[in-house]
Amino acid sequence: MTRRRLVYEGKAKILYEGPEPGTLIQYFKDDATAFNAQKKGQIAGKGVLNNRISEHIYTLLGTIGIPTHFVRRLNMREQLIRQVEIVPIEVVVRNVAAGSISKRLGIEEGTQLPRTIIEYYYKDDALGDPMIADEHIACFGWASQEEMNDIADMAIRVNDFLCGLFAGIGIRLVDFKLEFGRLWENDYARIILADEISPDGCRLWDMASGEKLDKDRFRRDLGGEAEAYQEVARRLGLLPEGEPNAVLDMAEHRQKRGK
Ligand code: TMP
Ligand code: ASP
Repeated sequence: MTRRRLVYEGKAKILYEGPEPGTLIQYFKDDATAFNAQKKGQIAGKGVLNNRISEHIYTLLGTIGIPTHFVRRLNMREQLIRQVEIVPIEVVVRNVAAGSISKRLGIEEGTQLPRTIIEYYYKDDALGDPMIADEHIACFGWASQEEMNDIADMAIRVNDFLCGLFAGIGIRLVDFKLEFGRLWENDYARIILADEISPDGCRLWDMASGEKLDKDRFRRDLGGEAEAYQEVARRLGLLPEGEPNAVLDMAEHRQKRGK
């Protein structure tokens, strides 16, 4: 048996060479990091859940005409994707103040923003992913103006769609991060959605209780992270019904830790 070639290993995923040219296999790990990998841990079963959740969301986005790198899920932890040249920009979309915007600008977490904000961060771990403006992107040539227009348009469309999807299952979409890539076809590159959409890169709050159903449970030591990811998958219809509603467990975790 020959060993497949590892193309790239990130903090939460591994990319392997795909079965055909122009494809890759995206493997989802249980590893979790926060604060630029200063905090490291594992969330049991996270890779399996994120693989399913991201498959579900990218498939739905495909049906509304958002081009994505997703081809098909291969097994519990792997999906076949199209190989792209990743644009080195993390695109954060915010509907509600939380996390770094709350800290930076002194806005109370949970404040509904009067309009949706798109922020850009330069994808560079050594620099700690600094926030950047359009001017930096143009100046350093990280993406063209045309590409940035496509990225911003897609980010807004993804946000509108996801806000509705999550609202329908009692979840408030506070914010999330997207990554895009260039798909080369002959001499032309087209921007498509890459990476993943999962509770790792989204803030998802239960509408009724305000309970966090995302990676903030890990970042902030709230406990119950595996249950939170399961709850998101369950509400999306990806796990068998009849499992107990995990939000009750979340409240218990919070009480135990006095948070
Ligand atoms: P922030 O409030 O820490 O800037 O995060 C905004 C959103 O982006 C939040 O949903 C988490 C996500 N995110 C990532 O996916 N990766 C990152 O490295 C960071 C800092 C945030
Ligand atoms: N990407 C962050 C890290 O580098 C994790 C996060 O806060 O989402 O560890």
